[in-house]
Amino acid sequence: MAFTYFFRDRQTLDLIAECVIPALKRHMYIHIWDAGCAMGPEPYSLAIVLRENMGPFLFRNARILATDIDESGDFGETIRRGVYGERGVERIPAELLERYFTRLAEPGPHGEPRHQIAPELRKAVEYQQHDLLTLRPPRDGFGLIVCKNVLLHFTPEERVAVIKMFHAALAPGGFLVTEQTQKLPAGLGGMFEQVSSAGQVWRKIGNLECRIGNVESSIRNTDYAIRNIMTHEALRIQQDHAFSRVSDYTWFNLDAGGQRVGKVRVRIDSGTLTVYSLSIFPEFQGQGFAQQAIAAFQNQYAAIVADRVRPEAGGFWEKMRFTTDYLGNYTWQR
Ligand SMILES: C[S@@+](CC[C@H](N)C(=O)[O-])C[C@H]1O[C@@H](n2cnc3c(N)ncnc32)[C@H](O)[C@@H]1O
Repeated sequence: MAFTYFFRDRQTLDLIAECVIPALKRHMYIHIWDAGCAMGPEPYSLAIVLRENMGPFLFRNARILATDIDESGDFGETIRRGVYGERGVERIPAELLERYFTRLAEPGPHGEPRHQIAPELRKAVEYQQHDLLTLRPPRDGFGLIVCKNVLLHFTPEERVAVIKMFHAALAPGGFLVTEQTQKLPAGLGGMFEQVSSAGQVWRKIGNLECRIGNVESSIRNTDYAIRNIMTHEALRIQQDHAFSRVSDYTWFNLDAGGQRVGKVRVRIDSGTLTVYSLSIFPEFQGQGFAQQAIAAFQNQYAAIVADRVRPEAGGFWEKMRFTTDYLGNYTWQR
């Protein structure tokens, strides 16, 4: 088994901090999968970068599922204890080593110093034995999947199959990170877009086949270039590109029977849709269009937040199975 150590690929960790964490931070719960994690330095390095860039409050809702085929059967115990020798930790910047590790009084079997990772980080990392070639993900809805120095051991066909599994296991707009030398195989174009030319950080864009009402539509989903047409019962929901271009928000038009009946203003990030305003024009109110719009979004997104709801509108969101956070927002999760 290859020796692996903390902060093995600093450049990619920096890219994750810069390009991925700002998007993940907008979610209430953050699920990350480190596939082929070995003995733990990689998921714990990720945990350090997340904790540094999220702060203690948000970090409490982050979970890193670390998996490996682990033929020895002892990765789980090693990761749970979180104790590593001097060689494993020597690339960690001194201030982070100081902040997130305790040097144990008792040295290792060869007299070398040993360091234990902080309980706060150990709590965030859960280990599970898992063979990627089963092509069954341990769960889905991940905001980020990291798989480094593993795919190179597979055949080209296996690599394509595993990456397709990652695509299916990611939440809409979720991220996939591989090692610098692992380019995505040809034939997967249209499933991911490269986030930065500085590294192998990819974002799921879809070709999600989505059945909403009776209409099947092909949806490409990214934060900034969303091409969406949804329908639900009588309602057709389509992005207003002109409005979205000049606004900080994504806007949708609600059309029924050839007439514009309202507009929705949202932000879309990974699996979460945040609704900032939903307005049905006065002459079309009371015909169920607001419910149809939210039902269409519920078909497509795993989580929806209704931002700062007026007190008199709370009943509408409760009817749509949202729950209040008592701070004025309503949330719904699939
Ligand atoms: C070179 S190590 C990489 C460790 C870590 N990702 C890193 O880059 O530091 C490769 C890891 O992939 C794991 N692995 C190999 N085949 C696998 C499979 N079919 N499913 C899951 N993990 C696998 C190995 O057990 C090993 O821990």
